[in-house]
Amino acid sequence: GGGGFAGSRLFAGTTPVGPGAAAVTQTESARHVTGKVVRRELRAAPVTVDLAGRAVQTWAYDGVVPGKELRATAGDLLRIRLTNDLPEETTVHWHGLALRNDMDGVPGLTQDPVRAGASFDYAFVVPDPGTYWFHPHVGVQLDRGLQAPLIVEDPREPMSYDEEVVLMLDDWTDGWGDSPDVILERMARKGMVMGGMSMEGMDHGGMSMGDSMPSDEQPLGADTGDVVYPAHLINGRTSEDPFLINTTPGRRIRLRIINAGGDTAYRFAVGGHRLSVTHTDGFPVDPVEVDTLIVGMGERYDVVITTGDGAFPVVAVPEGKEAAPGFALLRTASGAAPAPDARPAELAGQLLSYADLRAVESAALEPREPDREFELGLQMVDGGRQWFINGAAFGDHEPLEIQSGERIRLVMRNESMMFHPMHVHGHTFALAGQNGRGIRKDTINVLPMESLSVDLQADNPGQWLIHCHNIYHGELGMMTVLSYV
Ligand code: C2O
Ligand code: CU
Repeated sequence: GGGGFAGSRLFAGTTPVGPGAAAVTQTESARHVTGKVVRRELRAAPVTVDLAGRAVQTWAYDGVVPGKELRATAGDLLRIRLTNDLPEETTVHWHGLALRNDMDGVPGLTQDPVRAGASFDYAFVVPDPGTYWFHPHVGVQLDRGLQAPLIVEDPREPMSYDEEVVLMLDDWTDGWGDSPDVILERMARKGMVMGGMSMEGMDHGGMSMGDSMPSDEQPLGADTGDVVYPAHLINGRTSEDPFLINTTPGRRIRLRIINAGGDTAYRFAVGGHRLSVTHTDGFPVDPVEVDTLIVGMGERYDVVITTGDGAFPVVAVPEGKEAAPGFALLRTASGAAPAPDARPAELAGQLLSYADLRAVESAALEPREPDREFELGLQMVDGGRQWFINGAAFGDHEPLEIQSGERIRLVMRNESMMFHPMHVHGHTFALAGQNGRGIRKDTINVLPMESLSVDLQADNPGQWLIHCHNIYHGELGMMTVLSYV
């Protein structure tokens, strides 16, 4: 089973942290300001879930897709006991948190994988408020439905709003009767098709370049025997049985949008509403109003809407894929619901770009010349059977060696025609240059043939993955390691 990391020669060996271990580290005690401990049991297991009346087999946390939200306050100590009732080994990665390295959940790099039938105690202090999520870091397990929101509240929340709603977007994969290896092989074949793709698939300044868009005439979902995405979900629900936001007019609602899809970026909009963008990957920005935005795999946005009077579609359109959008319903009054295939005009309205955003002062990284710079060339190889960084797949790289206290610049150079939502573990970086004025993120969509530079402060020692959050690209090689020496 699926441990893509085990066996890598980057695995230097780690100290296993078992039950009862994991005392609060020195760095953590400085952050452990609330003195509160949040405990949770988390059980990963095969389940049958109901998808609009269809019983489907998958794997999930605590029997539901997405898993139950985990909520804490910045400075809390989380103690989570993972029980692995899956037929193969797993781990949990806490996506976006600058947590202690030995709790980061990367098998073969930060911990031993948790064997089938075993359990593991995760214990760490949550440093920063924001919208996060968690998922396994073994193979493509996250694409089965092992995913859940992790919301870290701000003890001094500066933003005022009346309600909040978490919206988890996901591409539901059919055909889970197959092993992950089979799925991977199919994805790789899909990649072969992508190799023939031209620039013509792009519009809106290139932002709509969907991953894995087949370039031939066969729409996804056709009877090709290939993996298909028959459903795009918002909070585990389809348009036939949509997730409902039931409220009253004139309310300020904070939407915490998380893209948990393995292979799909979404264009998000709420019919009849403007989106005031307030956070990227958990960190605050000067609010900017737009009609629509694209959420790459692993990215999060917080937006505030002021509710109108009526019933409105909340839609997540899969970029570059011929498929029915994810659909939820916002209702503030009785009356007819919008059609489930409603395409609100906002989708074609003003689209958010990183360049529109600016970090608020408290979230800004103070400017400094980088001590080290690394260029990461992002490459498609062999028609998409492999995805490389600088000419090599994961396991064949020398790690990017850095020292604590340094300022690091990563130049992500996309040399392919797919976009790559690049994710750095254990840190939030600041987008350098004009292309997003200092906004803090941990996952960034690098567009086809584009270069983006991000700066991070090396303040969290350990071994940290950098990888594409198209989970198939990552698993097929597009990963490397940032290593404190
Ligand atoms: Cu959600 Cu290694 O990432
Ligand atoms: Cu990628």
